[in-house]
Amino acid sequence: MVTTVLDGKVVSEAMLQSLAQHIRTIHLQTERDPGLAVVLVGDNPASRVYVEAKKKACAKVGINSFDYRLAPEEGEGALIDLISHLNADPDIHGILVQLPLPNGFDQQKIIELINPSKDVDGFHPMNVGRVWQGLPGFKSCTPYGVFELLRYYDVPVEGKHVVIIGRSNIVGKPLASILVQRAAGANATVTICHSKSENLLKLTQSADILVAAIGVPGFVTADMVRPGAVVVDVGINRVEDSAAKSGYRVVGDVDFKSVSAVCGPITPVPGGVGPMTIAMLMKNTVESFERHIAEVNK
Ligand code: GUN
Repeated sequence: MVTTVLDGKVVSEAMLQSLAQHIRTIHLQTERDPGLAVVLVGDNPASRVYVEAKKKACAKVGINSFDYRLAPEEGEGALIDLISHLNADPDIHGILVQLPLPNGFDQQKIIELINPSKDVDGFHPMNVGRVWQGLPGFKSCTPYGVFELLRYYDVPVEGKHVVIIGRSNIVGKPLASILVQRAAGANATVTICHSKSENLLKLTQSADILVAAIGVPGFVTADMVRPGAVVVDVGINRVEDSAAKSGYRVVGDVDFKSVSAVCGPITPVPGGVGPMTIAMLMKNTVESFERHIAEVNK
C-alpha cells in the first residue's frame, strides 16, 4: 500500500504565502504592519530553536518580530513588567512567552497576565473557554494546525472517532475543543486518553483518526492502529544519535516505520504538524492585528 504523507511543510508554505499577500494588501491601505513579541526566559535549547523558527516565519510573511530575552535570575517581576509594557504597546498585536518557563516561575499566572486580545498562543483561559463554547477566540496553534492540515487534505472528520493520546493544555484538550464543535471540518466524536485510561489498546484501535501527543518517542506501534486509520503525530522528541552532527535526532510519538505499513494518511516528523504550528501562530497574529486596527478605526 502506498502511504499518503500529510505534508505540513507544503501546506504551511502555502499558508505563509497567502498571509504575506494579505499583509501587503493591508499595508497598502493602512501603512501598518503586524507585530509579534517573542519572549524567551533562560536558554532551553529546544525553546531557542522554536523561537528562531518563529522569528524566521515572521520575516518571511512581513510581521515585525520583537525579541525579548530574560535571564532566569531577573526573576518573575521582570517578566511581569515586560508583559504589562507589551500589553500596552499599540505596535504589538501578539505576545508569545515561550514555554516551559524555568523553575520558580508561575506559568499559569504569567499566561493569565497576557491581554487575551494579544494571546496569539491561545493559552489564556478566556480564549480556551471561548473556543470550547464555539465563540470567536484564539485557538492554540498546534491543535489549530492539526485541524487545518486535515482540512487541506480533505480528510473526513465529521462523525468520525478521533482518539487523542495526551491531555495537555497545549495539545490534547484544545484539540478536542476544536474537533468536537458543530462546525465545518469538525463535528467529530472525540475521546481523550491518558496515563490512567483503561484498555488503551482497544481505544486506539477504535480510532478513525488517531492523534499522538504524549511526548514519548515511538509510543504508537502498528498493533495500536486500525488498518487504514489516519495517524497524526504531534510528538517532537530529541533522541541521542551519535551519527548526527548535533548528537541528536528528532522523532515523533509514532513508530513511523511500522505504523505507516498499516495506516492510511499519516503525518511525518519532522515536516508534519511542527511547521503547521508556526503557520497558525502567524495567522493568529495577523487576525489580532486586523482586530486591533479595526478597533482603532471605530
Ligand atoms: N512550548 C511548546 N509549544 C509551545 C507553543 O505552542 N507556544 C509556546 N508559547 N510555548 C510552547
